[in-house]
Amino acid sequence: MEEKRTVLEMKHITKSFPGVLANDNVSIDLKEGEVLALLGENGAGKTTLMNILFGIYRADYGEIFINGRKVHIASPHDALKSGIGMVQQHFTLVPSFSTSENIVLGLKELGFIVKTRDVEAKIEQLGKHYGLAVNPKAKVWTLSVGERQRVEILKLLYTGAKILILDEPTAVLTPQEAEALFRAVRKMTAEGTSVIFISHKLDEVMEISDRITVLKQGKVVGTVNKEDIDKKGLAKMMVGRDVILDIEKPDVEIGETVLKIENLKVRNDKNLFAINNLSLELKAGEILGIAGVAGNGQRELAESLYGLRKVESGKIILKGKDITHTSVSRRIKEGISYVPQDRKGMATCPNLSVAENLFLKNYITHYVPMSPYYLNKRLITQTAEKLIDEYSISTPSPKTPVKLLSGGNIQKVVLARELSTTPSVIIAAHPTRGLDIGAMEFVYRTLLQQKAKGAAVLLLAGELYEIFRLSDRVAVIYEGQIMGYTPPDPAYIEEIGLMMGGTKRMGDAV
Ligand SMILES: Nc1ncnc2c1ncn2[C@@H]1O[C@H](COP(=O)(O)OP(=O)(O)O)[C@@H](O)[C@H]1O
Ligand SMILES: [Mg+2]
Repeated sequence: MEEKRTVLEMKHITKSFPGVLANDNVSIDLKEGEVLALLGENGAGKTTLMNILFGIYRADYGEIFINGRKVHIASPHDALKSGIGMVQQHFTLVPSFSTSENIVLGLKELGFIVKTRDVEAKIEQLGKHYGLAVNPKAKVWTLSVGERQRVEILKLLYTGAKILILDEPTAVLTPQEAEALFRAVRKMTAEGTSVIFISHKLDEVMEISDRITVLKQGKVVGTVNKEDIDKKGLAKMMVGRDVILDIEKPDVEIGETVLKIENLKVRNDKNLFAINNLSLELKAGEILGIAGVAGNGQRELAESLYGLRKVESGKIILKGKDITHTSVSRRIKEGISYVPQDRKGMATCPNLSVAENLFLKNYITHYVPMSPYYLNKRLITQTAEKLIDEYSISTPSPKTPVKLLSGGNIQKVVLARELSTTPSVIIAAHPTRGLDIGAMEFVYRTLLQQKAKGAAVLLLAGELYEIFRLSDRVAVIYEGQIMGYTPPDPAYIEEIGLMMGGTKRMGDAV
């Protein structure tokens, strides 16, 4: 096979932020028409490296070569002029402008003189060519997240980017949208564009890339050809040790209905109905996975079940009791636990110690006074020591402020506190988001243990593989309603995707 031409080299890139070496002597190269995946856990330094390439950050040290020529990229403008385009994790479009106006804006900045009419025609043509159609006249605020991403990509293709950086692009997509994106990427690379694809998901990296550079704690672990490695091997490179990717579900008899939600209506912070007539039942010993694109009511559902958000109408019934309008503390006593998605703001008090954070709920369940004049220090320390041991929380001491722990260990603190009370209902919202694979495994095992003990678990997760791995049933949420149910089997991915996109509704519960 003919050796492909190298279009980009980043050599010895080093970048530190206060207290972190985000990129430590990182070198990568990119060939014409290939997909290079940058794979690594959260915080590995992937975005930083690409922000340097796109001119958002300046490296402390290191060099960049494009087509063998050394370049200095001081701004995104410089990057675009050199043919490098980046779709960032958080999009940069102007919501009140139309698709074409957004693209015109980008082009004007680059000194192109264009007519909106011509731009519209070209957008339609590019959209058709790559299978990324968007309406050029639609205001960006009316578009779905998936469509906005298409606009970002079309904008870069319009400027003639030959190196396209996609930073965790599938995080906001349905499976069908992700497939369409992959087809577009293949078309681009077939035409000679090179793509750097950032991800922490092994499946999609194995699907789309030609080569993979693995980053860990700011350093390159290695670069491999896709043909020479499998998922297990990649996981090991990412984590630095063997990991178990398949966890067995315990055989648990599903019991009676513990939680019943009837025609629930709940408003979001914008005062719109985020939960719109939602009904579902959750049984003892089952994990019900709620699949959906982020922002379809998942947060409001979790918060209203825990008593943090007012219910407009409908009912929440826990073990036969109507708890729709009861307080959080009442619900905790009745056996609801909540593992929220925001573990630093919502789930823990960052400045309190590990021991104090572990104890936060006990004043409700055990009526232990929490007045500062009356804190039972010994009980707090004893409880903490037991839980630190049981949940293998890695902390210098029970007195360490929780904010100094790693994400995985903070999540263990939350799980230890929420699950040590033997809850009958657990609401787990994105319980592994941002965790490394080791901590993820721990969370999976813990939730499955709770299931084995007979707890009913409502699992709200963005990642379908996580839902398949843990759940007994899958429900799909779209605009605050349950669109349907499927078994937890990848064979149903197409149906799930259609329901996630709101284009299909399935019959009754399976
Ligand atoms: N602007 C910034 N200021 C301070 N620290 C940062 C900044 N951007 C990234 N970091 C830190 O650099 C490290 C690498 O982050 P990042 O490149 O975003 O990782 P990844 O994209 O692989 O998840 C992390 O420890 C992160 O907290
Ligand atoms: Mg990142």
